[in-house]
This record gives sequence, structure tokens and C-alpha cells, in this order.
Amino acid sequence: MKTSVVPVDPAKIGRLSATSSTPDVLDELKLDLDTTTSDAQSLQTAARLLQQSDVPVAFPTETVYGLGADATRSSAVRGIYTAKQRPSDNPLIVHFASLQQIRQILRPSGITDSQDVDKDPIPDIYHPLIRRFWPGPLTILLPNPSESTLAPEVTAGLSTFGARLPRHPIALALIQFAGVPVAAPSANASTKPSPTAAEHVAYDLDGRIEMILDSGPCEVGVESTVVDGLSQPPLILRPGGISLEQIRACPGWENVSIGYKDTSEQGSKPRAPGMKYRHYSPRSPVILVEPETRPPLLEDLRTYLGDNGKIGLVRTSNWSLQPGSREWLVRRGQQSPSLSNDLRATEASGLGFAGMLKNLGKERSKLELVKQTAGGDYAIEVLDMHLGADAADVARGIFAALRRLDQEDVAVILVEGIGEDGDDLAAAVMNRLRKAAEVVK
Ligand code: TXA
Ligand code: MG
Repeated sequence: MKTSVVPVDPAKIGRLSATSSTPDVLDELKLDLDTTTSDAQSLQTAARLLQQSDVPVAFPTETVYGLGADATRSSAVRGIYTAKQRPSDNPLIVHFASLQQIRQILRPSGITDSQDVDKDPIPDIYHPLIRRFWPGPLTILLPNPSESTLAPEVTAGLSTFGARLPRHPIALALIQFAGVPVAAPSANASTKPSPTAAEHVAYDLDGRIEMILDSGPCEVGVESTVVDGLSQPPLILRPGGISLEQIRACPGWENVSIGYKDTSEQGSKPRAPGMKYRHYSPRSPVILVEPETRPPLLEDLRTYLGDNGKIGLVRTSNWSLQPGSREWLVRRGQQSPSLSNDLRATEASGLGFAGMLKNLGKERSKLELVKQTAGGDYAIEVLDMHLGADAADVARGIFAALRRLDQEDVAVILVEGIGEDGDDLAAAVMNRLRKAAEVVK
């Protein structure tokens, strides 16, 4: 199967307009497609594939790229599991383009009980969240009616389904044009980091799907927050694009509890790499260093490297790695004329390792750490990516950073964790990183 990556510019597909009962609520969506543009034609092609094919279509959302299929057709939904090689006991989120479309799923056989004519089948508990966060990176659990039109493969046998109204115009337009609810997990190969750019999807799924709609990098970078308002108290099942504090500020959600397991309680030591990883994981082992923890020394890293090798570094707020001993020196890039010159330069500037790293800027850069021993020079190549201190920037960049370092074949990826106190995306980032660094025994 040939996979095509097709650019679609949200500004060129035509006009999207909403009919709303209250401001900002997307009751109904209208799409006037501008059929003269190739962008709109690509959208049409993708919608047709969704309607007819059993091979899923990759499309952008504001969180991560999704791998979509018609949620009402079993054969299409099974195609997602095949393409991703994902175990089928994991329920999928269903994406909608309007509240009307969700209500149709909740009332599959029309209105039978006349008392309920005016009653919104979407449970009241969700109304404040919907008003504030939809369209956007939030998924809510809804009761799946017994005569539901959703394919059973979507819910993996549960009595509820996850519903999301994304805010990316291409996602909305695609769902609206296809006219079906779209089941979509992240468009990565199972166990790999989630895709936040079309290239990531192509890297993982080339030859396994026909079409990737490409609208550039994702705005949020981590998946939607999943909440369960049907339980008492309501629960957050997955941290994501909407923070705990934002949810807690909504009426009825003051007592929301954390319903997901995080692995932070395993302690703050870097986790041992070298085994099989479960989630969000590159091939290279990931060592997450929780904030407020002593950063590993270079001497520690040697144990992961064997005698020589490359390491990847993902820095965030304020890492200052200190060499384990003064015998180490830093060479930047490949052009260092000689070891002794470098040694002198480093000593003279008084910069040391931390200072050198600070000067390297945001982009990935390479530097070489060298130790002179009797048996010859010992070098570690460090591939450094600095994502910045802001949690939103870290969220946007983290999956791409893990993927890039993986492609460089580093022996280990060392990540500086971020603090989770603020009302931001830090909890979602740390949740993904803890999973990426998790060891399956
Ligand atoms: O941001 C996102 O949510 C992305 C983009 C593509 O929209 N989608 C995504 O989908 O992350 P997926 O299928 O990878 O996430 C599924 C997760 C499950 O692992 C589970 O945590 C939760 O959503 N979920 C879905 N349906 C559920 C249900 N009925 N009960 C409990 N959890 C459910
Ligand atoms: Mg996923």
C-alpha cells in the first residue's frame, strides 16, 4: 500500500460555521466546502475513505495526529487495530463534529419517551465542561445505549464510550463531511511516542495506511484529558490538554478525583533502562529524572553506555549536569582542533558542563564529552534538545524530541522532568514521561 502525505491548509478548505444554542457551544456544524482548492479535494478524498474503506485515515487534531475510522463500522474500526498493531482491549475515543451528532448516538431510535423530548441526552454533569472546553482537548465518558450504532470494537466491551469534540478545523471538517462519528487513537505504531507531526505518522505507518492529512505540527502536543462524570465523585482518567485545576473550577467538578495510576510513587530515582517498554516509548531507553532530584553524573551515564556511545538529553527548566570529575571536558561540535586546546578553553572560561549546555540554545545540538585516560581518550557524544521551561512548550515538543533522539540511535535518553504544581500541562507531560520510562517486568 502506498501512503501519501497530503497537505491541507485549514484556511483553504472553505467555510465552517456553527449553530449554537449558547455562545461557544457547537450544537451543529456547517461546512461550505470550497471545491476549487486541492485542500478541499483532499478533504473530500479522506472523507470518502472514512466512509468506504477499512483502512484508516490519519488526520491532525489540536492534541496529536489521530488515526480515524468510521466508528459505526466494525470492519473499519478493526482496521485501526491492524494498522497500529494495537491490542484490541483498549477502548477508542470517538470524535464528533457537533453535539447534535453525539445526541444521535445517545438516542439511536429517536425519542421514545415523550417526557424526554426536551431533555438533553448528554448528562447534566458535563454541561459546564462542554460550555468551557469544547471544542477542545477534553474527552468525556457517556453511556453507550444498548442499541447503540457504535461498533462494539470501539468500546472494548465497556458500557460507556469516550466522546471528544476536537477544535482543529481539519478534524471538524473531516468528521462533518464524512457524516459519521470517527473513532481515532493517536496515529503512532502501538507503544511508540504519539505523533505531533505528519512526518511522525509517516515514519510509523508508512505502507500501512493510504492517506495522511498534513496540517503541520500540533498545537497542544499531548492527548486530551479523559474525564468520567458518571461516577461519584467524578474522575480524571487521563491527564491531558485541560488541567485538573481547570476542571475543578467547573460546577459539579469541585471534588473531581484522580482516577489514573501514575508511577511517581515508585520513587524519584532514575529508572533502569534496558528492558521492554510499554507506552510512548522510543527504542532507546528513557531515564526520567524527576524534578528536585539530583541529576545523574556523567559517571552514572557511563554504565548505560558501555565503553563509548551517544546519549540524548532532553532539558527543560534548569538542568545543570555536573561532570562527575574534573577529568571530563566538553568539546562542542566536531571541529575542535585539539583536545588540549579545548581543555584550556573550558577551564579558562570557567563554564564547565552546565554553562556549555546553557549556551547551546533550543535546537538540538551535538557536543562531545571527553575524558583522557591512560588507554586513550574516552568520548561520549551528547545530543542535546532544550524544550524550555514552560510546560506548554515542553508538551508541544516532548514527543518530537523523543522521536528525533531515537532516530539518532542514542544509547539512552535522559529527560529532565518538570514540576506539577501549576495549572498547566505539566501533569500530562509527566504522566507520559513516566510511562515512557516505565519498565515492564
Ligand atoms: O487527544 C486525544 O484524545 C487523541 C486524539 C487523536 O484525539 N486520541 C487518543 O485516543 O488519545 P486513544 O484511543 O489513544 O485514547 C484512548 C484512551 C484509552 O486508553 C482510555 O484511557 C480512554 O481513552 N477511554 C476511551 N474510552 C473509554 C471508556 N469507555 N472508558 C474508559 N476510558 C476510555
Ligand atoms: Mg495513544
